[in-house]
Amino acid sequence: MSDDTPALHETPGARLADRIERRWATVVILIMAVFIAVAAFAGIHQAAMPQARVETISPTRLHLGGEFVETNLGSAVEPDGSVTVRAVGQQYSFTPQCMIVPTDTPITFRATSPDVIHGFLIQGTTVNTMLVPGYVSTISARFDETGEHFMPCQEFCGVGHEGMWAKVKVIDRTEFLNMADGKPRLSCVE
Ligand code: CUA
Repeated sequence: MSDDTPALHETPGARLADRIERRWATVVILIMAVFIAVAAFAGIHQAAMPQARVETISPTRLHLGGEFVETNLGSAVEPDGSVTVRAVGQQYSFTPQCMIVPTDTPITFRATSPDVIHGFLIQGTTVNTMLVPGYVSTISARFDETGEHFMPCQEFCGVGHEGMWAKVKVIDRTEFLNMADGKPRLSCVE
């Protein structure tokens, strides 16, 4: 090799490759920064967060007693004025099929599944979670306006998946409290 031969990393081709590589590295870092910003914005702005605790329950004994026995499902007014809605999703329906909640009230949904994974999604709200056999899913919500929300199962759970849905009916708080008077559990199933 003679002395006037440039080292390999100093050839014009190597310098060009170097520049292009550096440019792409910058682009990749910018793309990652955008993704992180979007995830952070969605998480903070929509208050989306993982469940704070894990509650387990025997999926084969739900109907025998305890919190998710059929007579305990539906909406219950708590001593602090909030409302807890308990539900079960199974192949291929939700119980209760129509859940009723008041406006302007902290609502806690508690639900589980006795068979396979189902989806618990209330359209038009940020409520979107999975019902996993063996676990209790808890999710909070608040409804400002009266109306009805469709609740399709959004996890493929078998041949009847597409026909698995429920609805949430939001009614005026005063009307709800009148309905709830003297009733331990409330639903809008006719
Ligand atoms: Cu239940 Cu899909």
